[in-house]
Amino acid sequence: MTLKTLTDTLDLDGRVVFLRVDANVPLDDGVITDDGRIRAFLPTLLWLSQRGARVVLASHLGRPEGVPVSHLSMAPVAARTAELLGSPVPLVPGVSGESVWSALEALAPGDVCFLENLRFDPRETSKAASARLELAMEWASHVDATVVDGFGVVHRKQASVYELPHVTDAFAGFLVEKEVEVLERLTARPDRPYTVVLGGSKVSDKLGVIEALLPTVDQLVIGGGMVFTVLAAQGHAVGKSLLESDQIVVVKGFLALAGNLGVDIVLPTDIVMAESFSPEARHVTLPADQLESGPAGSEALGLDIGPESAALFHNAISQSHTVFWNGPMGVFEFDAFSHGTKAVAQALTEVSGLSVVGGGDSAAAVRSLGFADEQFGHISTGGGASLEFLEGKHLPGLEILGWQPPVAPS
Ligand code: 3PG
Repeated sequence: MTLKTLTDTLDLDGRVVFLRVDANVPLDDGVITDDGRIRAFLPTLLWLSQRGARVVLASHLGRPEGVPVSHLSMAPVAARTAELLGSPVPLVPGVSGESVWSALEALAPGDVCFLENLRFDPRETSKAASARLELAMEWASHVDATVVDGFGVVHRKQASVYELPHVTDAFAGFLVEKEVEVLERLTARPDRPYTVVLGGSKVSDKLGVIEALLPTVDQLVIGGGMVFTVLAAQGHAVGKSLLESDQIVVVKGFLALAGNLGVDIVLPTDIVMAESFSPEARHVTLPADQLESGPAGSEALGLDIGPESAALFHNAISQSHTVFWNGPMGVFEFDAFSHGTKAVAQALTEVSGLSVVGGGDSAAAVRSLGFADEQFGHISTGGGASLEFLEGKHLPGLEILGWQPPVAPS
């Protein structure tokens, strides 16, 4: 079965449509630092509003764990949505209950409002299906249809993502449709060479995806904090760099499997080792097999890949025809340690086939480094969701909309 999508034959005029988006944007002191996830659902929002739907936007923001916390209010998100839309998007100060229902009734065709952070209600993320269903049924008695356009949250079995689409007419929005189409190109028919680039801090978060990808990729490029566990698995000392020693055996296993499958594992040959974790830390570039040979010795910590590795990664990536990238190569937030991430982003812009930046954090990283969305084939709004998609896992928020993974799920 394929995804149930929005079509021109749908009559939504005057209907109350619950539009579940992923507006989980990065905030700095209440200010949105990257509005990419808001821009990403605008086409669906506009389409619904122009067809006379009465649109109820709904999202989570952070992990408030079932209690209202003022710094995770949807207020800045509603305000930014209104700016981008060019018309008012009032914040309804609740998730369910009488005041919410009256606000929905007051919507005229084409109007848009934003519910408060869905995770302020413990039932949204409850482990008990009955609690999630109870919340979904409350919404269902006040809305006519659900549109899920929050790709970043389709891997979560939560009331607004799974139970509500189950008890109302439900459709995928344009963003979800596009994300699925692009990611299916990676899982089903990648043009070769196909290269996956992984970074970020924890190798344990990526083991599932590595295992699932090894039989399909030609090259796996690894950088970021997670690379130190790989270097340690090869017998190298890594100083005080990030290390998950309990994963060394597993990593040795995937290195051996990659060898058997003929997958080229591309690792950094040099690393920028710093004396401390700070933007001004003194640092030196060292060969990857001699990371403790600098002035800070075994106290040094790796904060970026070195220039030789950046060039190596750039070549491997830019000569590929399909590339998926998730996770920075270093501490890109600090200028001095952003060069590896910049080099990888630059290489993706030079890919002649399909280049995909996966994940909210990686997307925010490329934008903060000065790249434009248009320079990449696709920027996925889902971090965890895109990795789980590539892993072939069950994605409840897609499956409830009729989609099935093309390969047998694990
Ligand atoms: C994300 O940022 O990956 C999504 O918004 C999902 O958020 P979550 O990991 O808190 O469920």
